[in-house]
Amino acid sequence: MVEIHAASVNPLDAKIRDGEFKLILPYRLPLILGNDVAGVVVRVGSSVRGFKPGDEVYARPAQDRIGTFAEFIAMNEADVAMKPKNLTMEEAASLPLVALTAWQVLVERANLKKGQKVLIHAGSGGVGAIAIQLAKHIGAYVATTTSTANIDLVKSLGADVAVDYKKDDFGNVLQGYDVVLNSLGKETLEKSLRVLKPGGKLFSISGPPDAAFARQNGSGWLFQQLMGLLSSGIRRKSKRHGVSYSFHFMTANGGQLGKITSLIEAGAIRAVVDRVFPFQSTNEALAYVETGRAKGKVVIAVK
Ligand SMILES: NC(=O)c1ccc[n+]([C@@H]2O[C@H](COP(=O)([O-])OP(=O)(O)OC[C@H]3O[C@@H](n4cnc5c(N)ncnc54)[C@H](OP(=O)(O)O)[C@@H]3O)[C@@H](O)[C@H]2O)c1
Repeated sequence: MVEIHAASVNPLDAKIRDGEFKLILPYRLPLILGNDVAGVVVRVGSSVRGFKPGDEVYARPAQDRIGTFAEFIAMNEADVAMKPKNLTMEEAASLPLVALTAWQVLVERANLKKGQKVLIHAGSGGVGAIAIQLAKHIGAYVATTTSTANIDLVKSLGADVAVDYKKDDFGNVLQGYDVVLNSLGKETLEKSLRVLKPGGKLFSISGPPDAAFARQNGSGWLFQQLMGLLSSGIRRKSKRHGVSYSFHFMTANGGQLGKITSLIEAGAIRAVVDRVFPFQSTNEALAYVETGRAKGKVVIAVK
């Protein structure tokens, strides 16, 4: 049981609120939103070994245990990690969901290696700002897309190439990439195929979902077929380009978050916080994220 000091907002919160994830995440109402937390452990169950009351922790709770826009939350210890000592509660709350997403795509699934070339779309967004830093830490050559106003930000995070989408078309500028992380729409997804070299890997966290995701999510045969159908177009086009397509939906993972804590404490990754809203302005915080213009993360100060 964690007393919540800070939470952060993800586009996922608004999507759940709007019913967009009903099929994938069948939540029952009433439901407390919020998928990121930093706070202090106040009580532990009798078999908990990794944490004790008073520990400062952070987490992305498992998808069936969300609800961080609140004063307290009970989570499984397997989803929790010690908060990086060099971060404030607000900074720590900004990280779990986006950092785990970046880790799971770049490290776990893409197996990104030193010297490889990776394109991370929307480098100034919540996911992008952490993914750039993680890819640089791995030793990859990193390109990103952003608008004119955020070029300096993405360069400060380590991007080797920043394509200003207001001036240039990334599909004409970038070639020979090993990995693309897409978090934007269909047009960007399809154009990203041109950037990859044969054998390259296209990952999308903004859809369309595929059958492998439906299997991982424990869905039945019919749902797996449906997901396969949704991604059949991009999978077919990927095949034609000699590259692979995969959808990724991040999962809670305290072990991976612990590794991310080490990278943060070593100075390899820093939090990028755009704005902190007070708890009573949670709706305004969601509305700000929904503008799609946030630079890094939007945080809610609970305590
Ligand atoms: N599947 C998963 O596990 C998973 C996990 C996390 C997130 N997601 C999804 O991934 C998407 C991104 O999440 P997020 O938290 O990073 O969002 P976000 O922080 O709200 O993204 C906002 C950023 O996107 C940039 N942006 C918008 N349009 C752009 C474009 N055409 N080209 C380049 N940059 C652009 C904006 O920069 P400018 O102002 O410069 O345009 C802004 O900095 C969302 O759809 C979210 O639901 C999925």
